Order: sequence, then C-alpha cells, then structure tokens
Amino acid sequence: MVITMRMYDLIMKKRSGNALSNEEIDFMVQGYTKGEIPDYQMSAMTMAIYFQGMNEKETLELTMAMAHSGDMLDLSDIKGIKVDKHSTGGVGDKTSLALTPMVAALGIPVAKMSGRGLGHTGGTIDKLESFTGFSTAISEEQFKENVNRIGIAIMGQTADLAPADKKLYALRDVTATVDNMSLIASSIMSKKLAAGADAIVLDVKTGSGAFMKKEADAFLLAKEMVRIGNGAGRKTTAVISDMDQPLGFAVGNALEVREAIDTLKGNGPEDFVELCLTLGSHMVVAAGKTESVEEARKMLVKVLEDGSALDKLAEFVGAQGGDKELVYHPEGLPQALLVEEIVSPVDGYIKHIVCDEIGICSLILGGGRETKESEIDLSVGLVLSKKVGDYVKKGEVLATIHANDSEKLKLAKDRFIKAYTFSETPVEKKKLIKGIVTE
Ligand code: URA
Repeated sequence: MVITMRMYDLIMKKRSGNALSNEEIDFMVQGYTKGEIPDYQMSAMTMAIYFQGMNEKETLELTMAMAHSGDMLDLSDIKGIKVDKHSTGGVGDKTSLALTPMVAALGIPVAKMSGRGLGHTGGTIDKLESFTGFSTAISEEQFKENVNRIGIAIMGQTADLAPADKKLYALRDVTATVDNMSLIASSIMSKKLAAGADAIVLDVKTGSGAFMKKEADAFLLAKEMVRIGNGAGRKTTAVISDMDQPLGFAVGNALEVREAIDTLKGNGPEDFVELCLTLGSHMVVAAGKTESVEEARKMLVKVLEDGSALDKLAEFVGAQGGDKELVYHPEGLPQALLVEEIVSPVDGYIKHIVCDEIGICSLILGGGRETKESEIDLSVGLVLSKKVGDYVKKGEVLATIHANDSEKLKLAKDRFIKAYTFSETPVEKKKLIKGIVTE
C-alpha cells in the first residue's frame, strides 16, 4: 500500500496538539533532509513543536530519524571504550579544551565531535582554530587513526553526519525555536549517536546564559537525553551545571584557549577546574578505568599536576595541523589591539550577572557570528576579574575588554555594565554542580 503524506497535514496535526506517528516523523525528517520539504514548512513545524511539545516517544523517534539521516560512524576499529562529551552551550564554556586532553592523558580514547559557536554561546571548533593551522575538517580515517595513535581527535559535524540536525539547527537558530526540550534533546543526541562513541557524558547548563533558564527544565532535558542514550546502548551520564554567570573568567575564543592552557598548567579558575574534574571523573568511570568517581578524580588531578594533560593538548593540536608550540607559548595566540578596563560604578557585592548578555558583548566585539557567513575575530572578548558574591569597591576593575574596533568596544562596554546588579549586603556564591542524572 502506498501511503501518501502531506507536510501541511502534519503541521496542522501538531499545531492542534496531537502526537505525530513514527512514520510521520520519518517522512518529515527524510523529506527535509532531501530538500523536498521547504524551510518555510519546517519552520512552521518547529514553531508548532515549540508550543505544543513532543512526548517521549516522538522525541525518541525524531532523534533516531535525525541520527540515521546520514552516515553512522563505526568506531569499532578504535581500541577501548570511546567516550564523547557534549555541552548544551554556555558563555565562557571552554571545558572541552581542557577536559579532553585530561581524559586522553589517562589512556582513554577520546573521539569527539564538536560544533561552532551558536547565538550568544561559543563553540569548541572556533576556539581551537586560535591555534594557527589547526583543522577539525579531518577525514573519518584520519579521525580514527589519530584516536588510535595519540588517544584523542576532535572533528566537526560533516555534511554526512546527522545532516537533518545540521539543517534544522540552522533553521531553529533564526526562527526563535532553539530552546525547546525535545528539539534540543534530539539535536544533541542524534549527533552523538551518529558520531559513534560508546559512552557519552553530557553537561546540561542552566541559568541566564543557558538555553534552559530554569533548573527544573534542565533536569527534564537531562533525563530525556540520558534515556535516549542509554536506550540506544550508549552509557550516558548528565551533569547539570550552573550557567547563571560565565564559566571561569575568560569569554572569547583565544582568551578562553589561554585560560584552558593555564588550567592544564594547574592555574585554572576554581569553578572551571571543578567542572572539568566532575565531568572528567564520569568520563573515566564510563570508560571503565575505575568504578569510583573519587578515584577517577584523583587520577585527573595527577595529570594536571605532572603536566601530561598539557603535553597531550600539544600532541593533539599538532596532530590536527596546529602550531603546538602555542600551547607552551600562548602569548603567540591571537591578541586584540585595544585592551580596556571596565570598573565598578559602586561599592558592593555582585548580586547577579545576566550571563547571556556577556556572551552578546563578546559577539558584538566580533567573537561570534551575527549571520551564518560572518567571520569570527578570534582575539576579542572579555576577561572578568570578579564573579557573583565577590565584593568590589567603586572604581575597582570588574573586567578587561579586548577589542579591535573602538566603536564595538564602546557598545560592548555599555552593555556589559548593564548586565551587572550589586547589593549592599553579602551575596551567596553560586553552586556549580546542581546534580547528576544517570537514568
Ligand atoms: N546544542 C546542540 O547541539 N543542539 C541544540 O539544540 C542546543 C545545543
């Protein structure tokens, strides 16, 4: 029997609050990937999903259909349990830069797929390109060979890997339909499943700099993704972490690379080190190195102290065409021409930072894309001196701003200061880790 479906009917069905069947979801994903369903119909569908939601069964089917919309990587010729890691996106989130070499330095194969910056959030690939010559556009063979030889490789999402997500993501980015639980879960998990790792550790962000602003929603998203991952036979763990202020101090591509290098030298910001150790210990356990997260943590502290994680970063950068000397001489990384201080307008405790606004400041300076075609300025950004709960005196430095254009500098500076609120009475420091979800 030939079943004929019309996208129009599916949009109407979802708009009315009904669940789509597996066949309908497959039809929609395949049609959109092949270009048979136009962007305008898919935009209407994502907006209908945004308002009406999807149930667990629909979300699972959407994930599987997107994962199978292109090639599924087979990593079976890489020895050992391969682990991947993914963040839902944040400001100053340079975690993969430090964490992946830490884990790889323990002999655990890290086969990771990363993305570029999106909206106010940064992306690992853009950051890595601060190393002259570095490329994530490597072939599948090269990717596997590097993981087998040096224990770590990071590749970008190729046109063949979860192409439905690639198209849908770009569409959601410009149609205000990013922050929906089912759409985020299926976007992330389809890529992770297609990228072939055996175990996945997710960093689900919550707060004003995250897509999930409310903690309860972040937990629901984490549970949904863990359920999908475990159901597909990949051991999946999610850490829910704070994104109500930037992670660490640096925001901006090369500035974040520098902070990651400092961290691998043992001089990282407290919150950033803590996040790397928490996510890392779950990666180490998932890889079967030990059953104890405490033991895993000690192993990770050791590779920070003995310099082997720093050396692993250099080896990884060199293996993907980058100048590995920059790892030992980060002063050679891209640097902005204008560096200016932003000072506190009052005496008081920092009460709140509207975190996505800090991401937008970096974007205004040229550190992110305004359109899909924009070129990124790797050197610009901000380095905070103070975080929520810290006391500042009027005139004391809150942050330094790194820019190459005085107009943009002024715009970003004005916006930055408006993102801060102060209190005369002491303010509690933010709790970084909100919880762990394993099932
Ligand atoms: N990261 C992704 O890869 N997809 C989303 O939808 C959100 C964050």
